[in-house]
This record gives sequence, structure tokens and C-alpha cells, in this order.
Amino acid sequence: MVQWSERPETGVEYCLVLQAAARLEITGTRPRMRNNIENNFRKWNDDYDWPKDGDEWDGQARFSGQPYEAWKDSIVATFLAPNLSPESVVLEIAPGHGRWSNEIVDRCGRLILVDLSPNCIEFCQRRFASHDNVVYLVNDGQSLQAVADVSVDFVWSYDAFVHMGTDVIDRYLRELRRVLKPGGKASIHHAGRKHGFLWLGFLRDFGALGTNIYKALSMGKIADDDGWRSNVSQRTIRQLATHHGLRVRDQLQTWGKNNEFGLERYGDFVTTLIHPPRT
Ligand SMILES: C[S@@+](CC[C@H](N)C(=O)[O-])C[C@H]1O[C@@H](n2cnc3c(N)ncnc32)[C@H](O)[C@@H]1O
Repeated sequence: MVQWSERPETGVEYCLVLQAAARLEITGTRPRMRNNIENNFRKWNDDYDWPKDGDEWDGQARFSGQPYEAWKDSIVATFLAPNLSPESVVLEIAPGHGRWSNEIVDRCGRLILVDLSPNCIEFCQRRFASHDNVVYLVNDGQSLQAVADVSVDFVWSYDAFVHMGTDVIDRYLRELRRVLKPGGKASIHHAGRKHGFLWLGFLRDFGALGTNIYKALSMGKIADDDGWRSNVSQRTIRQLATHHGLRVRDQLQTWGKNNEFGLERYGDFVTTLIHPPRT
């Protein structure tokens, strides 16, 4: 509890008291769970029930006004199928229970699944036990040590970078530059908050009130939650990728003949990166 009788002596102390008041007295909630490796581990490895092994996350399809199966097929047709062949080596970062791995495994030569959750990787091992082209790796949530240099044709990650902090994304993008073959591609689904407001991300430390104010500013939405999106914009990804020598091919929020499919619910994007071919 904030002790109002203990009058702060300095401006800094006064500010700290106000912060505590905003957190404890006004919002009455704890600070928002940070988008770090520890919290991702706890949430996905320990706490989450996986009722439909990932297919329960149909909110983006509903927001697009599309049936979930059609929306899912559009992801396969737009981002996966064009990058897969019987010879290709594919790396999926954060497969969870294999919702997308299931679409990839029969369309590629080799599939490497990397997740920080041992429970998820064990689930995938059981799910894909009849396939002999899958490699399973549990990692530390930020490196791809067990993946060889210049060995991968295509990288896919959906619904995972959206929850990762900028520091972790930075490390993964550096790793992607290392493991991708020249000409290889990576399609990564990530948050797309408005860049000009990222500096106000600290508002999320002030409980539900701060999170909602920041959501309104950085996502332009009042209703709904913020999807536990990390403090990342389209430009953040462009800048980090370019820094690591990856070329940005495109950043899509909607796709389909009439842009009828998309990731608009929380303002996300799929960015496709290319390891520039040798000239
Ligand atoms: C919301 S689930 C998505 C699973 C799957 N990609 C899907 O779309 O159904 C998030 C997944 O990301 C994994 N994950 C979260 N942070 C990670 C990190 N830093 N490195 C590797 N995996 C991570 C979790 O263990 C979990 O499997």
C-alpha cells in the first residue's frame, strides 16, 4: 500500500509514489506480464492447455470475416507452398503443437522444428512420429546453435515473434542470416504497433489502465485485448533485418485476391526476408 502520510521529500520520490499509486491504487492490477523468454516458457510450456493444438486461435480469421479453414488455407497458399519443394530444408521456429508443421512436413525434404518448450517438442515428436524427415530441437529461446551455417532454404514462424521482445528478435534475425542459404527466405509473423508510439511502451507497466491507453495509441483500437503483443513495429523488423544483412522482400498485413485474408486484429504483419544471393 502507498503510505500517503510519508510525504516524499524530492521530485523523484514524488514521482515514484505516483507511479506506485497508478499501479496499485488506480488500476488495482499487477503490471502486465513482460514479453521475455521466461514468461513465454512459463505460459506455453507450463500453463497453456492447447485445447485444439493451436487451431483454437481462430481470432484473426474471424476478424477477417473468413471461415478459419479458408483463412488457414490462404496462409499455406500465400506464405508456405511457394517456398516448399521436395528438396527444401525448412526451419520452423516455435511450432507449438505443430499446427503449421503439419502443413509443411509433406511438402519439403527436411523439417527442423525448434521451440523453447520441451513439452511442445515432445508433442510434435509424437504427432509426426510416422515421418522420418523431421528434426526436433529444444533451444534457449534465442539461438539456433544446433542448426548449421548456410543450411536452410526457408524459415517459417507464426504466432511466436508476436510475443518476443526486440532483444530476442534481434538475436534470431542474426541467426537467420547465418543459417539461411544465399537466396533463402524467411517469413516471420510479428507485431506491428505504430512505430512513433513505441517509446511509450512503459505504460504497459501500469496495469490494465496503462496497457489500454498504450493499446489505443499504438494499435489504434479500444475494444479487445492487445493479444500480449510485444513492443515491436513494422519498422523495427525492417531495421533489425537490414542491420543483419537480410533484405526485406515485403511486409504483408492482408492478402488474397481482394485482400480478404489478414492479420488486422492486432495490427500484425508477416515480413518476408531474403538472404541476398551471391552476385
Ligand atoms: C502461441 S504459440 C504458437 C504455436 C504455433 N506456432 C502455432 O501457430 O500454432 C507460441 C509458441 O512459441 C514458442 N516460443 C515462445 N517464445 C519462444 C522463443 N523465444 N523461442 C522459441 N520458441 C518460443 C512457445 O513455446 C509456443 O510453442
